[in-house]
Amino acid sequence: MRSNTEPKAHSAMPQNERLVQASLSMAALAIVASFASSCSLDPVHDGQVKALGGEDPNIPAGQYHRGGQPCTVCHGGEGPAKNVFAIAGTVFYQKYDPANPKVPVPVDQAFVRILTADNANLCFVTNCMGNFRATPDRLGAKGLKFPFLVSVQKTSGTGNQPVVAMVGHVGREPSCANCHKDPSFFDSPGHVAVNQNPPNSPVQCPPAVEPDPPLVCPEDLF
Ligand code: HEC
Ligand code: HEC
Repeated sequence: MRSNTEPKAHSAMPQNERLVQASLSMAALAIVASFASSCSLDPVHDGQVKALGGEDPNIPAGQYHRGGQPCTVCHGGEGPAKNVFAIAGTVFYQKYDPANPKVPVPVDQAFVRILTADNANLCFVTNCMGNFRATPDRLGAKGLKFPFLVSVQKTSGTGNQPVVAMVGHVGREPSCANCHKDPSFFDSPGHVAVNQNPPNSPVQCPPAVEPDPPLVCPEDLF
């Protein structure tokens, strides 16, 4: 609608063209108004957000909420969350089992390791809801270069500490859960799992005291 602000072009315009232009800018105004009243500019994105449902009333919106959901649908820059994550997901103990599809147990302090296309090794630690996330600042100026390889590990102290690696690479999707959906099927490997049995006594979550400084992977301790 730039020509609206150019009086020269305007005055030289025949009557009928002016009418067309006037009605076009009315239409533009109407579109702007309808965007302003909905949550985002993109109806597909709105639909994806709505499909995830409301908050669990027992878990405040924060690092422990919405385990297993594709975090970056909301934390990807298009809202509704203001905090943007470059990558995020949730890790569980056992693989999805159709014979026993009850809520999977999340892994506290699993290590999620990523080898980026530019050979950066990144490692993230899950919280007690199995969630991990990385803000763009945490990744620094280089960011996270796709495609990347990824593995998960839960060290148990028993000497049996397998690394479970994804064979394929991730080309561009920042949320593990956008592919790792339950039930597992032709189009989905099921939720991300370390393939171990959960501990006998559940971990207190949220913890009584938040770890300070935040936990890091063994290789990031120095
Ligand atoms: C359906 C949308 C939605 C999904 C999915 C979602 N979140 Fe959120 N999240 C929010 C909103 C809204 C807030 C409120 C604060 C904000 O605007 O950042 C929030 C807040 C947070 C915060 C606190 C931010 C701060 O600085 O206070 C964290 C951490 C967080 N979410 C992590 C996650 C993780 C990890 C996942 C995936 C396992 C996830 N969220 C999935 C909408 C979502
Ligand atoms: C683009 C879709 C896609 C995304 C995104 C994705 N995965 Fe995967 N993942 C798969 C597929 C398909 C498989 C099964 C085949 C394979 O291993 O490559 C898989 C397998 C895995 C496995 C091995 C499972 C097993 O039991 O052997 C792990 C671990 C894993 N993914 C972790 C992750 C994590 C962590 C993320 C997020 C950082 C992630 N994946 C993001 C598609 C994806």
